[in-house]
Amino acid sequence: MSTQVKIQELTAELKQHNYNYYVLANTTISDQSFDMKMKELEKLEMAFPQFADANSPTKQVGGDITKNFNTVPHSTRMLSLGNTYNKEELLDFDVRVAKLNGGNAYQYTAELKFDGFAIALRYKEGKLVQAITRGDGTQGDDVTSNVKTVKSIPHQLKGDFPESMEVRGEMFIHKAAFVKMNKDRAAKGEDLYKNPRNTAAGTIKLQDSSEVAKRPLDAFLYQLVEHGNEELSHWDSLSQMRQYGLPVNDATKLCDGIEDVWGFIEYWDKERKNLSFEIDGVVIKVNSRLQQEEMGFTSKFPRWAMSYKFETEQAESKLLSITYQVGRTGAVTPVANLEPMQLLGTTVKRASLHNADFIAQLDVRVGDTVFVEKGGEIIPKIVKVDTSAREAGSLPTLFTITCPECETILERPEGDVVYRCPNVDGCPPQIKGRIEHFISRKAMDVDSLGEGKIDVLYQSGLVKRAADLYALTQENMLGLSKAIINEESGDERVVSFKEKTVENILDGVQKSKSQPFEQVLFALGVRFVGETVAKKLAFHFKNIDALMAADFEELNGVSEIGSVIAKSVIDYFEIEANRVEIDLLKAEGLIFEVVEKELSSNALDGAKIVVSGVFTRFSRNELKSLIEDNGGKNVSSISKSTSFIIAGDSMGPAKKEKAEKLGVRMITEDEFAIMLEGS
Ligand code: IVH
Repeated sequence: MSTQVKIQELTAELKQHNYNYYVLANTTISDQSFDMKMKELEKLEMAFPQFADANSPTKQVGGDITKNFNTVPHSTRMLSLGNTYNKEELLDFDVRVAKLNGGNAYQYTAELKFDGFAIALRYKEGKLVQAITRGDGTQGDDVTSNVKTVKSIPHQLKGDFPESMEVRGEMFIHKAAFVKMNKDRAAKGEDLYKNPRNTAAGTIKLQDSSEVAKRPLDAFLYQLVEHGNEELSHWDSLSQMRQYGLPVNDATKLCDGIEDVWGFIEYWDKERKNLSFEIDGVVIKVNSRLQQEEMGFTSKFPRWAMSYKFETEQAESKLLSITYQVGRTGAVTPVANLEPMQLLGTTVKRASLHNADFIAQLDVRVGDTVFVEKGGEIIPKIVKVDTSAREAGSLPTLFTITCPECETILERPEGDVVYRCPNVDGCPPQIKGRIEHFISRKAMDVDSLGEGKIDVLYQSGLVKRAADLYALTQENMLGLSKAIINEESGDERVVSFKEKTVENILDGVQKSKSQPFEQVLFALGVRFVGETVAKKLAFHFKNIDALMAADFEELNGVSEIGSVIAKSVIDYFEIEANRVEIDLLKAEGLIFEVVEKELSSNALDGAKIVVSGVFTRFSRNELKSLIEDNGGKNVSSISKSTSFIIAGDSMGPAKKEKAEKLGVRMITEDEFAIMLEGS
């Protein structure tokens, strides 16, 4: 491969990993491999600058900007840190620091490296007025109303604070809180969160602050950005922040030399398992802020700070076989079956292999010695293959070409990373998966049916599609039974349909007929139409016939419905079996139209209203319901046709400017309440 191609490939791959990490909050690579690839690219770019991409990931900080928040600029760039993984690199860093300081003495502060996401908080006259995510380092999302729900972050500073100041730090979820959240989700049959960091990052991006408030986010602040007293050392600024009442972690150490720092690192590498939150390393900073200023920055990192990353706990095992699982959408996921081994206190027998590209990148083969990591994630992953231990004559892994369940030849749609089984109507796990989705809590909510019972009903031939559920009777179900084996534990359990079970099923199925249209639409399982999108489509089109008649432009024109969803909806209705299914469900009496609520008044008749900012008298949701209950329409972005804006505290400057430019009126929540009085 030519060097130019190698640079292009590494660039594209790292960009994708950045996207997975920052936008999708779903990483498929270990931190260590990511950093290794980054270093390799840096080296190549240094040697062959003519081949470097102008927007190379080596020159960027990443980015997590999402479209639903106001984007606001940072006061100064929010940079990340250079990483080291061993003592030699740490000593190299110390040599550079010594050189840059020209023989003058210096100290370090060593701190824990919290594994969450970065946040910048601005306090004016002691009041928290703005919280911004890191974003691309230059600008981030204004998530003030969400951050205000976090208990450990004070809304009001204590003591002798400056008129305006900015502090930066990390937000995260404690390990125990994460486990509890997942237990609750498991009990409700919901998908589990992957790890505390992604859950925290996802939480701060929720649109509904009251939902954020229910999740236990916490924070530690580690940087005083703007304060007025440049002579304050970093160590002293941490104490100062504590005096203001800000959460600053106590495990910090003022170190007299790099050996002192090393002692801190060794101590916390062992002790970190006893912390209530996750850390992924230690951060070392030159203590004097005057010296920091002198040393300055590279294009990406401060020269006066460095992070030392701990190795994630890994275990060695042998890859015994690769099997493939088929999901409801036909996606085929490879699973590694491993020689059982212990990792972080649990026995691990399987690991995710994600997709065909992942297998090819790792070049993992049956019989290989592999390293498995858990890194807070529920499903362990294979991160490395020991190719030196490979037996001669081993062959590269070929991804299965046929479906493991129905033997249909798999397809890989262009631009997709997964292989899919196209046998939508004949492949058992796809059929069962769709029925399981149909009866799930947020869809038709038939809790008397579950995976095991669906399996029995499918095997017996009684239920082959969702509509068949409505034809079930006491006679045909009574007495059915089947032994079901749990693949993970090997345990056997018998599912049998006794009188009470059958009664509950019939009752649940009957009740499901009154589920509202948006849930019925979600239950159909159209790809990319999740709970929220289903709601949007249902309320926009009002009934299934209008939705089915809509063309691409019409769908794409609905707020927040993009081209991928629009295309998927069109594709779904083009399939005859799907249209037949809808007719059958209609005949059973399911609800396929929005049942309009009785309005409290018509005071806002048809007005398009934007709610923006933080409120004290009403919650955002209350305001939104008030708008709808009085005949108004909630819209998310300001345009010429916006009737008015209900503006709360800390409404973003960009929105304000837009409103002023377009001449859209802004009113307070009190003025809005007066508007509705008497109506
Ligand atoms: S200082 C310019 N201190 O790690 C220096 N960062 O990989 C800014 N982090 O973006 C960062 N704990 O999100 C600093 N004690 C700590 C930290 C910390 C976690 C995060 C932070 C930063 C990333 C760099």
